[in-house]
Amino acid sequence: MMEKPDIFYITTPIYYVNDKPHIGHVYTTLAADVLARWHRLRGGDVFFLTGTDEHGAKVAASAAANRKTPQQFADENSERFRDAFKKLGIVGTDFIRTTELRHVKAVRAFMEKLQNATTPKGNPALYEADYRGLYCIACERFYTEKELADGRCPIHKRPVEPVKERNVFFRLSDYLDDVRNAVESDAVRVLPEERKREALGLIEQGIEDFSVSREKVKWGIPFPGKEGQTIYVWVEALQNYLSALGYPDAKPFQKFWPASVQLIGKDILKFHAIYWPALLMAAGLPLPKTLFVHGFFTINGDKMSKSQGNVIDPVALTKEYGIDGVRYLLLTQFPFGQDGDVQQGRFRDKYNTDLANGIGNFASRVLAMVHKYSGGEVPVAEGISPDVQTKIDETRVTVHDALDAFAFERALAAIQALITDGDTRIDRAKPWQLATSSPEQLPQILYDLLAVLVAITVLLAPFLPETTAKLRTTLGLGEAGGDDIPTLPPGRSLAPIEPLFPRLAKQ
Ligand code: MSP
Repeated sequence: MMEKPDIFYITTPIYYVNDKPHIGHVYTTLAADVLARWHRLRGGDVFFLTGTDEHGAKVAASAAANRKTPQQFADENSERFRDAFKKLGIVGTDFIRTTELRHVKAVRAFMEKLQNATTPKGNPALYEADYRGLYCIACERFYTEKELADGRCPIHKRPVEPVKERNVFFRLSDYLDDVRNAVESDAVRVLPEERKREALGLIEQGIEDFSVSREKVKWGIPFPGKEGQTIYVWVEALQNYLSALGYPDAKPFQKFWPASVQLIGKDILKFHAIYWPALLMAAGLPLPKTLFVHGFFTINGDKMSKSQGNVIDPVALTKEYGIDGVRYLLLTQFPFGQDGDVQQGRFRDKYNTDLANGIGNFASRVLAMVHKYSGGEVPVAEGISPDVQTKIDETRVTVHDALDAFAFERALAAIQALITDGDTRIDRAKPWQLATSSPEQLPQILYDLLAVLVAITVLLAPFLPETTAKLRTTLGLGEAGGDDIPTLPPGRSLAPIEPLFPRLAKQ
């Protein structure tokens, strides 16, 4: 009997459209794409959401600096994100923009819920008060005096702006106990463990109620019932995870909420591990199951920023390394979840070693031998040799476990080890000698090598969609379906193969 397909809803942060995408944005979305592809391969019912965050003071200011209306500017930059993701082979189920009517409608419904909500301590969830605060426009958030570094924003090192206005506040303080319990008990699993501790630490230090409306920010969704105020951009942005599903009552919302996995970078932990669960509780909605927080990368040791002039354009990278090359390089720089450094100078070597000389060379070698010694046909053999089968099975288990643990680099290392093992088998068996000394041994050896290649094709599919599609065509495997590793029927005629990853000359 077929198992019920698992319902898998995965989200990325939605990205500010104040600038074009850089590899940081692509990094998170690519990781989500790998997981979405993997769940699809296993027959899961997958909804993979990404998109753009288009309101707020920052976007309005950038638009003005570019002499565009905020909407024009958002349209252009949102398209650049969509395009960059497409050029990296990222296939989302949906792409949400917060200026879309469907988002605005869902946000209105959610805000109404909040307006009518009572906290666990019996207070109204929203209240009005005067707000004085220090605002960093680049972060789109307020800081307290003690959070500043030398009187400036601790992240952007730029001056903060004193703001005073009458705002609507969310009574976060009444929800903090419940949020702490949810995080502590893993009702919302915050991963990796150190990020869970960080979230609990933030709650321990005490977090104040926050204002959910803005008087001065005009580029936003009007706050229902509050003439002249807009909804705080972060509050409505978080709701994208619901609006894309058609909250409050569309079918996808009923089917996919709560999210299975929300991927974020460590910079926005507080919003996702504390504010978001509290807002959901107030609206009476279930909490996301897992929040995976990945690290940040620096470029050759420096923070990536426009002023440093070291921002890497992901689309430019694909011109050099191809779609799959970039996907591979980005995911193997350092373990997902940790911070790390991206050294562009090492991309070429890594590409040549792991892709040109690794999978690319192995595939060419195996297929060339099948053409040379077996007339281009899958040889007739007694099935796969037990030791080869064991190696494949072990690799498959490792890859599955690693993907369950968000350890992309571990999954890829296991697949690399399988390729190396295949290469070693060729070197040991020396088919070119057997062809004259003991040709009767060749069919089994070639059959085993083809089995390794088929396994690699399946295991690598979520990571390298283009390459594995080419290999599937060559091996006559058709569309990827299921994560079971198929066997090749003896006698099947195989097409020749073009180099998958042409070697790049040293720079
Ligand atoms: N719009 C908010 C998120 C709202 S979600 C409801 C935002 N946008 S952002 O454009 O600044 O994107 C932040 C995200 O981009 C990070 O959380 C991370 O996923 C990714 N990254 C940005 N720079 C990065 C690095 N240098 N390294 C790794 N990821 C990076 O915050």
